[in-house]
Amino acid sequence: MMNYYVSASVLSADLLDIRSEIKKLESSGADMLHFDVMDGIFVNNITYGLPVLEQVRRVTDMTLDVHLMITDPIKYAALFAEAGADIISFHSETSGDVRETIKAVRAAGAKAALAIKPATPAESVYEFLPELDMLLVMTVEPGFGGQSFIFDTVEKVRRIRQRIDELGLDCDVQVDGGINYDTAPIVREAGANVLVSGSCLFGAEDMSSAVSKIKGEA
Ligand code: DX5
Ligand code: ZN
Repeated sequence: MMNYYVSASVLSADLLDIRSEIKKLESSGADMLHFDVMDGIFVNNITYGLPVLEQVRRVTDMTLDVHLMITDPIKYAALFAEAGADIISFHSETSGDVRETIKAVRAAGAKAALAIKPATPAESVYEFLPELDMLLVMTVEPGFGGQSFIFDTVEKVRRIRQRIDELGLDCDVQVDGGINYDTAPIVREAGANVLVSGSCLFGAEDMSSAVSKIKGEA
């Protein structure tokens, strides 16, 4: 039996009241806080960065799952780890060296995750799986919350999970984008075990029951 985890994307939170949003999250059963960093170059949006992460770190013990959508992740890996990231995901589509970046993240004391956009093939990351704590399959084009799930990505999740199992690795498979009550069961069945949720979770009347539904407990 697989354990499922929910990582809550605060991109959809009330950013001017982030402290109470985090308190709500802590009591909701969400397992991690997903922090989307965008630089306006790797993706067409700019969000928040190091100073905000530092302040979030001061007010919570939640696992901070930082998703870097930036062009030069190796340059910032240690800085994000120092600012409080527990897990750092970076994209394979950046021009930097994937192996070196994984090493830099680990050396800085964080868990390392590699992220792939919807069009990036599964096979391109197989060689890195033994070195990763998590593989992030984007199920929308990175850049914005509230987009619709891209169904073509489901087979990729399945193939990556299969490969991880064949190799006997302990690597989480995270999905990010368009996860809601309809798409969560589909990605869980395909082998994802860490589900990011932004708009569905923060738009829910009852956050705890939303977390349970996404995990498939209710
Ligand atoms: C998109 C971000 C996601 C986003 C998910 O680039 O990486 O984490 O916040 O939002 P929803 O769950 O609304 O699709
Ligand atoms: Zn994300």
